[in-house]
Amino acid sequence: MEFNALPINEKVANNVRRVESVVNTAVRGYEKLASLVGGGRKGPYDDKNFEFVGGARDNLRMKHYDKSLRLLWKAEHHLPQGNFRDMTKDEKVFMSQAKQTLNKKERIQIDRFSSDEYKELINREYTQEQKQAIINILSIIGHGEAYAWMVAAEVLTDCKSTGGRAALTMQVLEEAKHFVVLRELMLAWDCEIPRFTVWEYIVLERTLKSTGMEKFFGMNVVVENVAMGIFGMLGELPGLEILKMFHLDESRHTALPYNYFEEMPMTWWQKNSPFAQFRRLMMVLPAVPMMASLEKDMAVLGVDSLEFGGAMLRKIAHMKDRVGFNTFIPSSVLKEFVNDAFNVYASYSRPDHTTRRFVEADTVMGEDMQAIEKELFDLYSTGKKVSELASRKILDWRNAA
Ligand SMILES: [Fe+2]
Ligand SMILES: [Fe+2]
Repeated sequence: MEFNALPINEKVANNVRRVESVVNTAVRGYEKLASLVGGGRKGPYDDKNFEFVGGARDNLRMKHYDKSLRLLWKAEHHLPQGNFRDMTKDEKVFMSQAKQTLNKKERIQIDRFSSDEYKELINREYTQEQKQAIINILSIIGHGEAYAWMVAAEVLTDCKSTGGRAALTMQVLEEAKHFVVLRELMLAWDCEIPRFTVWEYIVLERTLKSTGMEKFFGMNVVVENVAMGIFGMLGELPGLEILKMFHLDESRHTALPYNYFEEMPMTWWQKNSPFAQFRRLMMVLPAVPMMASLEKDMAVLGVDSLEFGGAMLRKIAHMKDRVGFNTFIPSSVLKEFVNDAFNVYASYSRPDHTTRRFVEADTVMGEDMQAIEKELFDLYSTGKKVSELASRKILDWRNAA
């Protein structure tokens, strides 16, 4: 390529470079000093290495950002009766081609959700009492998604490394999608959408007010497990199949703290600070009265809220141990305490109640979602990395056995 290079004054150009270098040293030096007293550079970005502070961490990027993009689902496709227009032209062409390969019965199955027939479907399938119970239960996570969106956006500003930020960026996007899609879905049910219960309010506000990466505990360990439990419980019901897509996203989010801290481990103090341990415990305990608040609505759907709560607590305890979020009370004791509390409540509220192991129950429906959770929790319990490589190895081993 031929360019008509313009003449420059080399001497001036060198002086300009030198002045910039001196001012740069002065400004960076001042910022470094100021950072010792809480001021200094705000952006945790390392321009010398073209990375965010914390390094590249490509593992995190691949496990969460790349994987999220691969599994990204479009609301326009899964909730065609909504007003979302998020599919590209190519995706629409692909979908219409895919549709042509379906037989008549399968096409009817898909088309029924793409028209006003959706409302007819839910009115045919559910009584008003059942509809309201479903909306009451879904509202817990509807509000929860709004907080997950806010919390993820804050964690994004606090987390380190390029891979970590890429992972959190996808979580912010997915929580935003969860909130707006779930809202649209719930509004179509023509039911009153209740406010927060105070138990939920406490957990979510405490999560948002937690500092730095401690937010991972409230959000990815506690709230995501509640979400997975609710989506897992409702995702097989007619008209609610889209919740399986949510369940898939949330299972990936619950693995994020483990993967993140494996790359950038917590300090001893972050794990064991008495203040942090107390706060974590106070975030888990409101789940006990919350299950009593949910009992009536879940009972309408044939689900025992104490079994739901027991399963949820067991999963939270499991994940918090694996990640290293200590609480004063060890998980095995915490589980017994919660089991006792549920039994005390049941013996007071249910005639003929005999003591049961609520913490060993499970309320996840359908083979797909059960398989996802099994894989997730097996990986946690065998102490393997939550990665595709490790999961492949374990699955191979399981098949061989
Ligand atoms: Fe979510
Ligand atoms: Fe999530």
